[in-house]
Amino acid sequence: MAVPFSHRLDWSIATNRLAQALTLHRPQFDLTASNPTNAGIDYPAGLLNAFQDPRSLHYNPDPRGIESARAALNLGPHTLLAASTSEAYSWLFKLLCNPGDAILVPRPSYPLFEFLARLESVEVIQYSLRYAEGWWLDYDSLERQLTPNTRAILFVNPNNPTGNYLKIAELHRLAALCAGNNIALISDEVFADYPLTGDQTRATTLGDNGECLSFVLGGLSKTAGLPQMKAAWLTASGPGAGEAAKRLELIADTYLSVATPVQYALPTLLKHGAKIREQIQDRTRANLGTLQNSHLRPLRVEGGWYAIIPTPRTRGEEEWAIHLLENERTLTQPGYFYDFESDGWLVLSLLTPEADFAAGIAAIHRAFTA
Ligand SMILES: Cc1ncc(COP(=O)(O)O)c(C=O)c1O
Repeated sequence: MAVPFSHRLDWSIATNRLAQALTLHRPQFDLTASNPTNAGIDYPAGLLNAFQDPRSLHYNPDPRGIESARAALNLGPHTLLAASTSEAYSWLFKLLCNPGDAILVPRPSYPLFEFLARLESVEVIQYSLRYAEGWWLDYDSLERQLTPNTRAILFVNPNNPTGNYLKIAELHRLAALCAGNNIALISDEVFADYPLTGDQTRATTLGDNGECLSFVLGGLSKTAGLPQMKAAWLTASGPGAGEAAKRLELIADTYLSVATPVQYALPTLLKHGAKIREQIQDRTRANLGTLQNSHLRPLRVEGGWYAIIPTPRTRGEEEWAIHLLENERTLTQPGYFYDFESDGWLVLSLLTPEADFAAGIAAIHRAFTA
């Protein structure tokens, strides 16, 4: 008899067909690039000088994160640093859920939620985002999924990969629902610095909504294009935020996972972040322009790093992704990676270097019209 392993890891590790095809075909135009450090962004030369602070030679941990780092973020009194937003999620699920409790997450969205929740023995239940001239939250589908075990509703603002923001009217409704059912609202705002359009009706943040206990997540990985530095943050607001922050501090104290050097470097990294962000912003806007001027009919996108195009019905989306890789050496992601409710979508990264993006778009158009 072998040693048994936890059911929390009982997920399929079979490689999908696109991953198999990738072992045989190297893409020339990678339209899935999501790692800014490999995307030809010009990082300021002096950036690493931020790590020369002599205070980093001493270990005086604060479980909430070092004061100077939290002050530089200026996000409110109940802010804690974590090594990544993934870690911040794991803390929130520990804080809010007993094993078997549930969180509601949007669909389509970031595929990691399922894994992050499962590792905390938490169930993920999906509610729908729907598309008609733009993405909107299907509030009825969300309400239908509520159970007595629901502990949190999660929203990604703007969402990955649909790029939609929650609208102010939707936020009021959502926050009232959370307050009325003693459910927390978790808002992943890692892409909040990357609007692609302007809109007065959008909620720029879901925190401080005046109604319910809310947690807002952000991090260096997107705000400053520095995922390797491993610094992220979460801020609690609303009724019970102080108590929640105290308990989060206990969780954080158990691990003390954020390295001291990055905490002392944080104020400087945030300053450099502005220049990095600007380059990413210019890139995503230029690529979106290229896509909108093509014949590929992208869905409306409001922010973030991704765009979505429909595929011709002559093949399924995975077939298209494989076909594009094999015949045009262009790599895209099929929508099912993000749990789209229907087949027929490809997700493209707007972070791709402009020339590759333009060549990839031309290649996709060629294949779609062949
Ligand atoms: C919606 C969303 N949240 C969080 C993350 C990851 O952030 P971190 O590197 O801080 O774990 C990503 C990364 O792509 C993301 O798309």
